[in-house]
Formats: sequence, structure tokens, C-alpha cells
Amino acid sequence: MILNHLKAATHSRHAALESRLPLLDAHLARSAYREFVHLFFGYYEPLEETLLAQPCWESIGFDYAERRKTPRLRQDLLALGDSAASLDRLARCQSLPPLASPAQVLGCLYVIEGATLGGQIISRRLASGLGLDATSGAAFFSGYGPQTGSRWKAFCAMLESQAEQHGHHQDMVDSARQTFETLGHWLFPKYPVFAAGSP
Ligand code: HEM
Repeated sequence: MILNHLKAATHSRHAALESRLPLLDAHLARSAYREFVHLFFGYYEPLEETLLAQPCWESIGFDYAERRKTPRLRQDLLALGDSAASLDRLARCQSLPPLASPAQVLGCLYVIEGATLGGQIISRRLASGLGLDATSGAAFFSGYGPQTGSRWKAFCAMLESQAEQHGHHQDMVDSARQTFETLGHWLFPKYPVFAAGSP
């Protein structure tokens, strides 16, 4: 099962990210939250542009375009006080995971889609702590709302079937690890440097 393998192989990288993100803190300020949404926007926009420019979508048979997260991040930032011009000026991450093969795309998608699970916990906290919902600045972390579980299951079924048909499991794992690491280093200067191949 590739999913079990991906989960085990990225466990430390997930833990390192989760422990640094202050999004569940009882005292999270709106301004600090907004700064994180700026950073997520600066990572996801170039990542999703690169992902969607890949030629593999037809062969994978998966519609990622309608799962894009950048429009939600944009909507959140506009609700939180940004303008289209201020979003244009935000820094964009230049260091993205490798996305040249279907296996690399799928490894990256595992991380991006998996993040919607943690988003469900974060969005509840944003509602209780900052009074934000999907219309007022928390659309990104709200993910697919009540459909999040079923959409994750649909994604996992596609991933398992692709991995069974085409292999390249190590490329998927490496890409998932690099997705965590590029995001981690973009968000936090002190995100650890993991040895290649470490769990
Ligand atoms: C405060 C931040 C976060 C919290 C509290 C959190 C929490 C969680 C939780 C509760 C799950 C479900 C675990 C399970 O059902 O076994 C999960 C899964 C996952 N999260 Fe996070 N998460 C956070 C941030 C992130 C971020 C930023 C990413 C990546 C961009 C991420 C990627 C994933 C992935 C890939 C999975 C799927 C693991 C699997 O079952 O294979 N998470 N997270």
C-alpha cells in the first residue's frame, strides 16, 4: 500500500511542520494568522501553476484543477484586508519539489491533499478563536468542508491504483518528502534539514 509507505516516510516531516505552525494556539492573533496565509499563498500559487502545467493529467485521469487551493487563499486574503495589488507584491517561493513525472506529481499531491485533513481541525480553531469562516478568511483551511473525508478517500483510491499500475514508488516518496521540506523551509527558517532517505 503506497499510502502507508508515504505516511511512514513523511511522518517526521509532518510532525516538524505541525509542531511549528501556531495555528491552533489559543492566543493566535488575526495579524499572525494573516501572515501565515500570505506565506501559504506565496507557496501554493507557484506550486499549483507548475502542477497544472504538467502534461500528465490526462493519463492520471484526475481533475486537480477543480481542487485548486490558490483561489481560496486569494479569497481569504481579500477578506482579511489585502487588495489584488498587495497580493501581486507578495513573495513567491522559488524552491519547489520536482514535478517532472506522474509519480512526482502524485507524491506532491499526497501532501497537498492530506493537508486538508489537518485543515479541518485548524478551521474549527479559527472559527472559535478568531470568528473566521469560509466566507470571512478561512476558506483555505476549511478545505472541502463536509466533503473533505470523502474527497480524501477518492484521492487515496486514485493514488493506490496509479501506484499499483505504474510503480515508481520511491519517486513518489521522494517528491512527498521534498514537498514537506520546501514548504517547511519557506515557512520557517529553522525547519530541520532532513538527511536524504531518513523517515
Ligand atoms: C497545525 C497544523 C496541522 C495539523 C494539526 C495537522 C493534523 C493532521 C491530522 C489530524 C491528520 C489526520 C491523521 C490521520 O487521520 O491519520 C493529518 C493528516 C495529514 N496531514 Fe496534517 N496537520 C497539519 C498541517 C499539515 C500541513 C501544513 C501539511 C502539508 C502541507 C499536512 C499534511 C498532511 C498529510 C499529507 C496528511 C495525511 C497523512 C496520511 O494519513 O497519510 N498537514 N494532519
